[in-house]
Amino acid sequence: MALNSATAIAHPNIAFIKYWGNSDDGLRLPVNSSISMNLDGLSAKTSVEWDDDLTADEFTLNNEIQSGDSLHRVSRHLDVLRGRLGRQSKAKVASENNFPTGAGIASSAAAFAALTAAGVAAAGKILSERELSTIARLGSGSAARSIPAGFVEWYAADSHEDSYAQSLFPPDHWNLVDVVAVINKGHKAVGSSAGHPSAQSSPLQNARVAGAEERVTRVRGAIQERNFNELATFVELDSNLMHAVMMTSQPPLFYWEPASLKIMSLIREWRAEGLNVCYTLDAGANVHCICVRSDAPIVSSRLNSLSEVLTTLSANVGGGAHVLP
Ligand code: PMV
Repeated sequence: MALNSATAIAHPNIAFIKYWGNSDDGLRLPVNSSISMNLDGLSAKTSVEWDDDLTADEFTLNNEIQSGDSLHRVSRHLDVLRGRLGRQSKAKVASENNFPTGAGIASSAAAFAALTAAGVAAAGKILSERELSTIARLGSGSAARSIPAGFVEWYAADSHEDSYAQSLFPPDHWNLVDVVAVINKGHKAVGSSAGHPSAQSSPLQNARVAGAEERVTRVRGAIQERNFNELATFVELDSNLMHAVMMTSQPPLFYWEPASLKIMSLIREWRAEGLNVCYTLDAGANVHCICVRSDAPIVSSRLNSLSEVLTTLSANVGGGAHVLP
């Protein structure tokens, strides 16, 4: 590994209590706190090399040279890192995801967490986990939650420094699995960065936000006590509330597809049968089926038998962003 370069790995995360809408779009300060679990096995691996001879930042994603918006967003985040690290040089960034990009599997969370960790390490600096989380947040809000390990809470706050994520419980606290039913591998039409500013146009957003702290408390407690039924109630409620806001915003955002609805309904039936499983969806059609590890094989085999399901991805609770030696 050349001098001035480093490689970091970060996992995407799935939100149990969702982040949707900012009090400050520029700083990505969320209107409510949120809770997530990191997804082990799915990862973004990003190398950053600060290079004094470069005249512009370069970015490859899954070995394809990026230009336009994708390069611009990475370059803007490199500007943030340059400012914090006191560097002028441009950087070469190479990133690989081992899961579909931009399809509601939080690829941007893993990407900006890994970019932050690698960029800081490549400059030979060590920053606190809290500060890494605030910096990652500037690239993609939910990336703040991919810095710490395991079950994570990200705090809503009025200032950049105070809106960070921290680990509530380590990965081995509860052996939950996210079985993602992939029904659409395509890139979503409207990404979350464009979606957040429209949240406040929904007449339902204020009601969603008003109840968010209560749901955060209930989900934190459910994880602490490993109480699956309580978790399922609030995880599904919170996902439904966020999608209700999305659908009633201007312009309306519909991420659910007929197959998403079919799977949501099956998940409720399977839970009534006794399986410990519940659903949640991010800004995409794919359904994240959260279950306890002993029920994961049956959940994934039932999902795979549906003609609408292209594939399933299973992830245990993952660790935090880390720099490779
Ligand atoms: O971090 P962003 O801007 O990609 O927003 C993520 C928003 C959701 O995935 C829909 C919800 C969440 O909390 O992860």
